[in-house]
Amino acid sequence: MSDSQNDILIDVQDVWKSFEDLEVLKGVSLKVHTGSSDVILGRSGIGKSVLLKSIVGLLRPEQGSIKVMGQQVIGLKTRDLNEMRKSIGYVFQYAALYDSLTVRENLEFPLRKHSDAGEEEITERVFEQLRLVGLESAVDKMPSELSGGMKKRIGLARAIIKRPRIVLYDEPTAGLDPITAREISELILSLEEQFGITSITVTHDLECARIVANQIYILDDGVFQHSGTFDELKRSTDPYTRAFFQVVV
Ligand SMILES: Nc1ncnc2c1ncn2[C@@H]1O[C@H](COP(=O)(O)OP(=O)(O)OP(=O)(O)O)[C@@H](O)[C@H]1O
Ligand SMILES: [Mg+2]
Repeated sequence: MSDSQNDILIDVQDVWKSFEDLEVLKGVSLKVHTGSSDVILGRSGIGKSVLLKSIVGLLRPEQGSIKVMGQQVIGLKTRDLNEMRKSIGYVFQYAALYDSLTVRENLEFPLRKHSDAGEEEITERVFEQLRLVGLESAVDKMPSELSGGMKKRIGLARAIIKRPRIVLYDEPTAGLDPITAREISELILSLEEQFGITSITVTHDLECARIVANQIYILDDGVFQHSGTFDELKRSTDPYTRAFFQVVV
């Protein structure tokens, strides 16, 4: 893949973010190339979700630059942020379906909010999404009637319903059994290939990283200390990296 600037869809440079006297991000940088699927690993509480939220402008770093599709995110006005977010799907760490809405209404929500699609088209799109994640039968269910795995699938379906160029997944397989987790990881990969999505996935699930990652970044002490492909990092002699990979045989 070439290194030209046009090829970089997400460009994070020297970003600093703190909460009162807690410094979380300390000059982190990351370049995500078009079509790439990058994975972030790191201990709990190290700042992975803070970084994803900063990329979509939900948090505002004190210093640095975050360009998404060439546009500077830090300091962007709400209207321009909303415009930019149309191109980004976000799978939140905690399922984040609207509990009082049915599956259908949850999926319709982004279409009604961000596009002028008619009723027929909206229904068509909802069923198309449900087919993609294998859950057409759940269309009229409430989130409380769904299993954890089903909720994650609906979360994926909702994140990609507007066909975003970029999707950010925050722990898409957390809390699932290994078989369902693998199914979700494979679904992520297949949706990305099908729709040419560029993505960042935050995960603690090494199997997920192995399945989806082109490149893996390890966040520690506010910056990416190590990066490489799954196989490169698996062979690493660095103790922190080894601590992540020691369960991999
Ligand atoms: N809005 C906020 N206000 C104050 N502190 C925050 C806020 N968001 C995050 N933090 C703090 O920043 C640090 C990093 O949080 P973050 O949620 O990014 O961790 P994480 O790497 O995603 O962890 P996990 O793997 O458990 O999800 C934590 O100490 C957290 O308490
Ligand atoms: Mg998190």
